[in-house]
Amino acid sequence: MSATARKTAPLPDDILAMKGDTPIVSLTAYTTPMARMMDAHCDFVLVGDSVGMVLHGLPSTLGVTMDMMIMHGAAVARGLEKSMLVIDMPFGSYEEGPAQAFRNAAQLMRETGAVAVKLEGGEHMAETIAFLVARGIPVMAHIGLTPQSINTLGGYKVQGRDDQAEQLLADARAIADAGAFSVVLEKVPATLADQITAEIPIPTIGIGASAGCDGQILVVDDMLGLFTAFKPKFVKRYAQLGTDGEAAIAAYAADVRARSFPAEEHTFADKAPGK
Ligand code: KIV
Repeated sequence: MSATARKTAPLPDDILAMKGDTPIVSLTAYTTPMARMMDAHCDFVLVGDSVGMVLHGLPSTLGVTMDMMIMHGAAVARGLEKSMLVIDMPFGSYEEGPAQAFRNAAQLMRETGAVAVKLEGGEHMAETIAFLVARGIPVMAHIGLTPQSINTLGGYKVQGRDDQAEQLLADARAIADAGAFSVVLEKVPATLADQITAEIPIPTIGIGASAGCDGQILVVDDMLGLFTAFKPKFVKRYAQLGTDGEAAIAAYAADVRARSFPAEEHTFADKAPGK
């Protein structure tokens, strides 16, 4: 069913059931107005830890905290009715082991209303994923380019080329076996993304992967042209709100300096006599 036709938000099982059927549509959001704008068009909305770079000017996602995720998660939840809310677990909030992951995932869900969490990692996170799922926490996994591991990956490079392909396939299988309801494939060669999509029983959500994935996700500020620090090859800009916004601000500044704003229609007259 399309997001526009749906009256209530899907659950993770509904997203799982879309595998191999209708493409799953998703974007990130960090604020209530942005969430409202996408609610009727997306199947799920991700409060990504990309918030740190996109809204807070951090150099990577490593500085994002639980408090930041909770504040933005709660804001996005207030803007959603038809779209499912997924929230990223920030760096350092789940890697120690299943118990730490459960405690922090439960807090994220309790304080934001998110129905699922996303965490980065493949085979080595399988035990944690299984632990969370067994205790009522739906998990979306994230493999390929995993930005929280940027310092060990050595940069924002394509992942899974040549001899890395087998490991990514093993990661995808392990995640699915552990009970994740979907997996994000970031910056993975298209043929490998297609192979993973064909092999595992859960939906693959591509970002810089393949049109053959079961769904797609983009960082909303990237596709709207609002985040202009850099543009990854996989981003298609559907608008240029950054340059349009700067032109609008320049026009406002010129109007104020020329005393042509505010005009009469923006100001208030004295109270009419007798009223
Ligand atoms: O943090 C994020 O925005 C993400 C998406 C790019 C998948 O993880």
